Amino acid sequence: MRRLLPVLAALAAAPAGAEEGAAVFEARCASCHSVAAGAPSGAGPSLAGLIGREVAGDPGYDYSPVLREARQRGDVWDRARLVRFLRDTEEMYPGLWMGGAGLRGEGEIEAVAAYLAQSR
Ligand code: HEC
Repeated sequence: MRRLLPVLAALAAAPAGAEEGAAVFEARCASCHSVAAGAPSGAGPSLAGLIGREVAGDPGYDYSPVLREARQRGDVWDRARLVRFLRDTEEMYPGLWMGGAGLRGEGEIEAVAAYLAQSR
């Protein structure tokens, strides 16, 4: 294991492309979320311009109490928060209405985060 760790760390650190992230987003997120600016919310809130936006920041979406409380606390989406959220949604916001993000491994998580970071 000890010799494997640096390899795993190098793999995890490899820049995950926004292009790969777009494909993962299509497959695992787009059924509920849109990233197009001005698009209406669907089953989930719009994620347009997510990075830098306050948590529960789609004005057209009726969020769960846990996300509304997070907004009142002043939580803002940055990339680190998004990655942590995608690793374990319930750990960050217990009682969230979304369930798990269903992403497989750090590669998919980093790719989706890269994709969302570049969509405005
Ligand atoms: C089955 C529908 C569904 C899928 C699939 C889904 N989500 Fe969600 N998502 C939701 C719902 C519903 C909420 C609002 C939850 C609440 O109010 O507690 C949400 C909330 C979010 C939020 C918080 C948004 C904000 O405005 O603060 C983020 C970020 C998010 N989802 C990202 C993702 C990503 C990335 C994926 C794909 C890996 C994904 N979601 C897959 C339904 C979904």
